[in-house]
Amino acid sequence: MEVLFAAEEIAARVGELGRQISADYRGRELVLIGVLNGAFILLADLARTLTIPVRIDFIRVASYGNAACSSGQVSLRKDVELDLHGRHLLLVEDIVDSGRTLACLREHFQQRGAASLAVCALIDKRERREVDLVVDYPGFQVESGFLVGYGLDYAEDHRQYPAVYRIREESLQ
Ligand code: PRP
Repeated sequence: MEVLFAAEEIAARVGELGRQISADYRGRELVLIGVLNGAFILLADLARTLTIPVRIDFIRVASYGNAACSSGQVSLRKDVELDLHGRHLLLVEDIVDSGRTLACLREHFQQRGAASLAVCALIDKRERREVDLVVDYPGFQVESGFLVGYGLDYAEDHRQYPAVYRIREESLQ
């Protein structure tokens, strides 16, 4: 494994994102929604950099199949429990890859009456993007590779690392 983003670099970038988000949402209240499991570390760190009022909740989905949504291709395992009607939402993800999860979640939160929805992801990975969408607050843009750490897993391992690593292809089974 090689270090792609060191812990200090991530902390600095998360601080920048927090300042930008706090400025963009000044005077409004934000609901941070972490997409489990991968987002738990970014959400915890990002939330502590914000200087605006926030509420925090989580959602858990499992994705399968190839459709971009509306078709049951993403199944909801745990929904957000807060009332989202008229709220400004910031979805927090560890990684956006194909974009399918995000496309489905966007639809889901529109149906729940959100006033607005933006996305913050530690890694905005373009290599396999299938849905044309924008990550409003990207931590880092990465072209390719299998990444672990800072919430990202390989078969549920390595999420707890404070840095992001790229796994060498020969190590992937
Ligand atoms: C990962 C990640 C995103 C999704 C991104 O979740 O956390 O939710 O995949 O992929 P996409 O852009 O191709 O849809 P995963 O299903 O691996 O669950 P995890 O967060 O528990 O690791």
